[in-house]
Amino acid sequence: MSVDLKGGISKRFDLVSKTGLWNQHKENILLDLSSKRWSVIDNFLPHCSFKQLAIAASRDYQEGLLKPATVGKSKKRREKVRGDAIRWVQRSNCHPSIYPILDIIDNLQENLRQQLFLPLQENESHFAVYPPGTFYVKHLDCHRNQNNRILTFILYLNRRNWSKANGGQLRMYMDKHEFVDINPIGNRLVLFDSSVFYHEVLPATRPRMSYTGWMRRNSTFGS
Ligand code: OGA
Ligand code: MN
Repeated sequence: MSVDLKGGISKRFDLVSKTGLWNQHKENILLDLSSKRWSVIDNFLPHCSFKQLAIAASRDYQEGLLKPATVGKSKKRREKVRGDAIRWVQRSNCHPSIYPILDIIDNLQENLRQQLFLPLQENESHFAVYPPGTFYVKHLDCHRNQNNRILTFILYLNRRNWSKANGGQLRMYMDKHEFVDINPIGNRLVLFDSSVFYHEVLPATRPRMSYTGWMRRNSTFGS
């Protein structure tokens, strides 16, 4: 009986926290995405969830689980294109403390699917660390001949007092010449249409950490 009660309470708590999170941010996210197709939300996660995610990412990094990211179909390492190390995050390989975050992303995806009529069916995500001096050149996330990535989400796992002088800004191109630089401040979420915005990661003076992912059509679509 006590087990049932506990289970019931924790399930209800999960439901409230996910719903609460969506309710807290939905107005800004929906308005931004529907009007300009990108959005920046500060203090996205409750502070303790943010801390847990940041701790999990740095633990994986320290244990050498993040591997140099590769580029293109040939899966070659090209430091002149991108210099980060990544680890794909899945329920099967991540620390249980991360499950609530995966639930939050699934819930965000479901709300965006319903509210914006987007064909979002699944998501993929990884931890990324850019060592000092590394970068990712200007690119588009939704590759030609592979249109299954619809929305990009990036949650920064750095300190919250990351200063401009530390570099590492996400440079989002509004068109060919005009851009906006976004500081990778801890617990800041950036969401954007993967097929519209070219963007790049500027070099930083200290390790730059993020949890990055894509909401997409199912994997049988595209290539
Ligand atoms: C990417 C990317 C941006 C960032 O991983 O494709 O563009 O700010 N990341 O980390
Ligand atoms: Mn990108």
